[in-house]
Amino acid sequence: MTDTLSPPPFRPWTPPRRDRPMPLVSFLWQSWRDPLQTWSRRHFEEPQQFGQGPLGAVIVVSHPEGVRRVLTENAANYEKGALQRRVLGPLLSDGLLLTEGEVWRRARRILAPLFTPARTVALSGRMAEVCRARVEGWRLSTAPRVLNIDTEMSGLTFDILSATLFSDDLGGEAEGFERALNRYLSVGARIDPLDVLDAPNWVPRLGRLASFRSARFFEQSVARLVKTRRARMDAGDTLPADLLSALLTARDEDAREPGAGGLNDREVAANILTFILAGHETTARTLGWALHLISRAPEVADRLKAEADAFDPTHAGWADRLPWTKAVIEEAMRLFPPAPTLARIALAPDEIGGQVIPAGTTVIISPWVLHRHERLWDDPAAFRPERFLPANRKTIDRYAYIPFSAGPRVCIGAAFALQEATIALATILGAADVEAITTVEPRPVHQITLRSARPIRLKLRRRKTA
Ligand code: HEM
Repeated sequence: MTDTLSPPPFRPWTPPRRDRPMPLVSFLWQSWRDPLQTWSRRHFEEPQQFGQGPLGAVIVVSHPEGVRRVLTENAANYEKGALQRRVLGPLLSDGLLLTEGEVWRRARRILAPLFTPARTVALSGRMAEVCRARVEGWRLSTAPRVLNIDTEMSGLTFDILSATLFSDDLGGEAEGFERALNRYLSVGARIDPLDVLDAPNWVPRLGRLASFRSARFFEQSVARLVKTRRARMDAGDTLPADLLSALLTARDEDAREPGAGGLNDREVAANILTFILAGHETTARTLGWALHLISRAPEVADRLKAEADAFDPTHAGWADRLPWTKAVIEEAMRLFPPAPTLARIALAPDEIGGQVIPAGTTVIISPWVLHRHERLWDDPAAFRPERFLPANRKTIDRYAYIPFSAGPRVCIGAAFALQEATIALATILGAADVEAITTVEPRPVHQITLRSARPIRLKLRRRKTA
């Protein structure tokens, strides 16, 4: 087979772009409903836009030089800011995703050894087992079966996380977590106008009240998890070398003061939750969008099936034999980045793309905009996974494609996520034909992650060769 595809590429549905920026009240309302709808055509055509308005100075940066400046070159000048902490809620605020400065550096130092390439590769066998079990559970036959792909992918990535980072101690909680997480993301964790306008915390937020039940569920599950593992520690059991043990026994070798190395109880709880939420929702959405795209592009599906038929996770170097599978995952994250927007606050004045920005400027870098920018991509709306085949990938600027962000705050689980998504897709395509059930396409909505407004449902049937 050659590396190019002949039929015209599939172009997934995209929200309409506005002709001009929105007035403040409509902007706040739309940011609460779905921030994707706030982008105007100019955002996808111009490298950056700076403005001073009622919300202070804001710059949207959509060119690789500027992205590099903020995320890497001068990263120390930019922090995540109070709005993100408010939106994501107090449960996560002491975790790796939201902390800053020395507290963040210490936690990153403690956790980084769990995500080295060697440790990640060592998890591939276990990941493949979990994928096989999920696909077998579907009991596919040659008659088509309609699956709620969003639920299935959330269950799958949750099980992988539980098996690899928590040694199965999360087992059985997948459904409860999915329910709580759906409530939390669709109602609770929204960009509340009161937060944007910096209203005091005692003013009640609609979403926050609605997510109270989810928060209680999360807290209780984490407390149970910690109690069970601590009991094993106290009993002198040999502990599994996983994330949970690392969090509970953490010692920071670089800590200057004796005894200052460990994580306190709030940090342990916040990190457990951070890894459960950041570590399974994002990968599940990637797989859901990838399967949607595959269902509309039969010639791409054929490439993946050919690779899947030769897939053997016990064989060293298996990953190099799945170039199309990996390319589909990368292209799915280009078109549907699971984290559609990154926001930072400038601590001191800086210059980005020739524009001087004052201290306190809000800097928005949106993978959603960047990945579909007219100046950076050829035919940006088209699903063309061949962009990411090894020979072509070299031409993509590191700072034009940032599904995992970049610089010191780059996603700690990027290699883990790519590996599990590749194994999952190869396992599914090895067993099933995947077909759309309707011509109506799923519509992306930005609810912290990039989700489908209605669950993605697809028809799966057992492959004749499987
Ligand atoms: C396709 C899947 C994933 C995507 C697209 C993704 C994306 C991202 C992005 C964009 C950030 C930076 C956020 C920011 O700077 O505001 C991030 C950070 C993070 N991600 Fe991921 N992620 C994925 C999977 C995972 C997995 C599997 C884990 C853990 C097992 C994980 C854990 C984290 C953590 C803990 C952080 C915070 C890192 C820090 O600030 O030091 N993510 N992720």
